[in-house]
Amino acid sequence: MSGLVLAIDQGTTSSRAVLFDGDMKVVGVGQKEFTQHYPASGWVEHDPEEIWASVVTTVKSAMTKAKCGAADIAAIGITNQRETVVIWDKATGKPIHNAIVWQDRRTAPLCARLRKQGLEPKFSRKTGLLLDPYFSGTKIAWMLDKVKGARKRAENGELLAGTIDSFLTWRLTAGNVHATDATNASRTLVYNIEKNEWDTELLRILGIPAAMLPQVKDCAADYGSTDKSLFGAEIRILGVAGDQQAATIGQACFQPGMMKSTYGTGCFALLNTGADMVRSKNRLLTTIAYRLDGKTTYALEGSIFIAGAAVQWLRDGLKIIGKADETGKLAAEADPTQSVYLVPAFVGLGAPHWDADARGAIYGLTRNSGPAEFARATLESVAFQTRDLLDAMRKDWKSGNARTVLRVDGGMVASDWTMQRLADILDAPVDRPTILETTALGAAWLAGSKAGVWPTAEEFAEAWALDRRFTPQMDAATRNTKLKGWRDAVRRTLSA
Ligand code: G3P
Repeated sequence: MSGLVLAIDQGTTSSRAVLFDGDMKVVGVGQKEFTQHYPASGWVEHDPEEIWASVVTTVKSAMTKAKCGAADIAAIGITNQRETVVIWDKATGKPIHNAIVWQDRRTAPLCARLRKQGLEPKFSRKTGLLLDPYFSGTKIAWMLDKVKGARKRAENGELLAGTIDSFLTWRLTAGNVHATDATNASRTLVYNIEKNEWDTELLRILGIPAAMLPQVKDCAADYGSTDKSLFGAEIRILGVAGDQQAATIGQACFQPGMMKSTYGTGCFALLNTGADMVRSKNRLLTTIAYRLDGKTTYALEGSIFIAGAAVQWLRDGLKIIGKADETGKLAAEADPTQSVYLVPAFVGLGAPHWDADARGAIYGLTRNSGPAEFARATLESVAFQTRDLLDAMRKDWKSGNARTVLRVDGGMVASDWTMQRLADILDAPVDRPTILETTALGAAWLAGSKAGVWPTAEEFAEAWALDRRFTPQMDAATRNTKLKGWRDAVRRTLSA
């Protein structure tokens, strides 16, 4: 077996390695969950050493399953949880602190201070983002402030910083390459997405020395080779993209107007806007969808922090389901006369509200409300949040209105009930593809096409296949009543 392509998908709760053959078929998968650390309320950390170990283990187990050696692998594509950031010692490779995860809210006071200084428009104009703790920049600033001697060492050029892709690339190449791609850079709050470079003014405001930061490359580019000692032979790393952007590629959303939504821990909807850097007037993000051959394609993004994580809460917190895939069946049994709404603001609310201080709430409970109503409220909350994103996108990007079709992927989309309810609430078609490994597939396509073993974008897009289209069936009056109830619930949940 040769000409295989390996995708390393380093996500929020687990690391995965997926090996594809020349026909883009999965031939080996390795997966490992790792520890979530919650050192204080609203704080979320990962141990970078545990992440590193999980990546090496999963790659080896995927190779064992596919019965292949490193020499059979033409290229590696890396995709990763975005915004999560690591600072490490250039000489020893040791992180100076746990990785601060995208969900972490500890820099909310710093963001509020910067907002008060009137700096949000400047950050937004240059980066397409908002002053929210979600993004990497304030997390880097926090570590430089709080870890003893860190800022001095950073100024002396002793420390490196990067998102997870960059930390992994550095480790995989035994410290030879410190690089990231344009999509990951676009989530840091210090990358100018118009000029495609680190922004010296924003770096100065946050006190981050530019020398710490990685070189920014195209998504399909030469990221060096893995050290021979790791997998038995060198393997070229030829692709990198943040996981939501990789899913956009995996869903073949290459044309302006195409949109995907991935339902993992959170939910992230990206609308391809082509070469247009659409500025949102509705609190969405402007971000880089991908950069290929030096050409940047932009996207409007709506980010919801809790989607699948709410189902985990039903399972692990409330213990009203045994397995996540029971939720749809349970929701279908809910009493249609009850109007129970869950606002899953467990870590604040993302787009379009950006309320870091809001916390989750449930409304409309009666004596008859039970597990089925909780399950329905949970799944519907995901649909309502997606609807809020879509409404904002429709307002921001008028030319996309007529042909809104949502391509979906991620764990939750296996449930027919959830997808039907999503189409009903959105009042738009929802397309579920046959291949649900879209994130890994997108990363693999970047690497495989760069290596010359996978097809061009056009041929890849033609190979995208529909499993099922869900079309809206709910009558308008029911939908409007539900939307009114949801908006009322959100209004009551916002912190100010
Ligand atoms: O922006 C955060 C996102 O990249 C995390 O994705 O799939 O690890 O929940 P996921």
